[in-house]
Amino acid sequence: MIVDSVLTNAKAYLNGQIVDCSIAIEEGKIQKIGKETQMPNADEKTDLQNMLVLPGLIDEHVHLRDEGKAYKEDFTSGTAAAAAGGFTTVLDMPNNDPVTMSVETLRNRMRTAQRKILVNVGFYSEFPKKMPAVQDIVAEGAVGFKLFMGCQIGGLNIDDDQALQDAFKEVAKLNVPVAVHAEDKATLTANEEKLKQSKKTGTADFLRAHTEAVELKSIQRLLKINKQTGVRLHFCHLSTQEGLNAIAEAKKSGRTVTCEVTPNHLLLSSEDLKRYGQMVIMAPPLRSKNHLEALWKGLENGSVDALGSDHAPHAQREKSASSVWDVKVGVPGLETTLPLILTLVKKNRLTLTQAVQLLAEKPAEIYGLNDRGRLEQGKNADLTVVDFNRQFKIDASKFKSKAKFSPYDGWDVQGKPVKTIVNGQLVFDEGEIVAKAGSGFIVRRGSM
Ligand code: DOR
Ligand code: ZN
Ligand code: ZN
Repeated sequence: MIVDSVLTNAKAYLNGQIVDCSIAIEEGKIQKIGKETQMPNADEKTDLQNMLVLPGLIDEHVHLRDEGKAYKEDFTSGTAAAAAGGFTTVLDMPNNDPVTMSVETLRNRMRTAQRKILVNVGFYSEFPKKMPAVQDIVAEGAVGFKLFMGCQIGGLNIDDDQALQDAFKEVAKLNVPVAVHAEDKATLTANEEKLKQSKKTGTADFLRAHTEAVELKSIQRLLKINKQTGVRLHFCHLSTQEGLNAIAEAKKSGRTVTCEVTPNHLLLSSEDLKRYGQMVIMAPPLRSKNHLEALWKGLENGSVDALGSDHAPHAQREKSASSVWDVKVGVPGLETTLPLILTLVKKNRLTLTQAVQLLAEKPAEIYGLNDRGRLEQGKNADLTVVDFNRQFKIDASKFKSKAKFSPYDGWDVQGKPVKTIVNGQLVFDEGEIVAKAGSGFIVRRGSM
């Protein structure tokens, strides 16, 4: 047999161990992992020169924008950023223009994406206006629902507990996860109104609105409805000790909840707001150091399930509005997450096993991406090749993302993605995108 390609001299992460091996790829799948002498003949051979090969990483929390927000990011620039950051699959958030919240908007988004993407992309949907449509949206291939609790975005009235309960019951039947942005709208808007009335417009005022209590209140409310419905809730970008404790408790009592943290909330604190200013305005906001420590503990003891970048690209001018209330929230993260995490592995703050669990295995499990997340025969040939020893400075001006800013600009890191292989095809190679737009796959729930 002659396979499409064989990668030799890999140091591959296989079930918790680094193994010297070769990898044969046929029709986009891993055909064999073994010694070089056991490899079939191949049309193409690539010597990986003892680079570390990880299962293709999955970023479960990405805002790819495009459509009406293409000036911030489009499918090609966003997935180029993903490939450059070592991600072979990303899950796209629905707060788009138009909002992804129906079969039609989802279908259009998938159609536009198909000819533009460089890595695999799965799509979240917001809740539709009429709940029976959740079934159709899942049948169309959404990987999950996203629920913004801080402001009304989708068709589900977030002020109405009964409506939430009804929607969660429908989704529970389908066994798809609901990813939630947990901030309590009522508390948040009341805080904001008060501050706006007294003409408070600084970065510190943003923290006075997005308090710890805003996060906790929303989490507690949702946990109650989780208990009543058995819906699978995945809490996004956890930022507080109290919030994480509430989720950890719920998990202990066997409830169907999981959670995510971002590198931002692990590495930056509210003190960094002084240094970076409005650039690091994000929701939830950066917190004081005791919260960072709690999130780190959560990583260590397993109460945090996954890492997501919350890649949130914006135009520069949108980050520099004169009032903090007009600043667009979020920072790009696709091209910084892996080097930052590998640097933490080098510093022994995390193990490589934890990093792979958080960035590949768990996201695959949570979103039912059964053919991804591990290097195994038969799985999709998505591979992230990194030079674990290479030291470099993060340079935001070189990002493939349209958002060429980052709080990590100029940071010294160690561990660089050097090749990104998606569905068996080399997409990113030593700084360059080498595949054609449209070579990524749309990831539909159940089909991959
Ligand atoms: O920081 C954020 N950015 N938080 C959100 O909830 C939305 C996101 C975005 O879309 O920019
Ligand atoms: Zn969010
Ligand atoms: Zn987000």
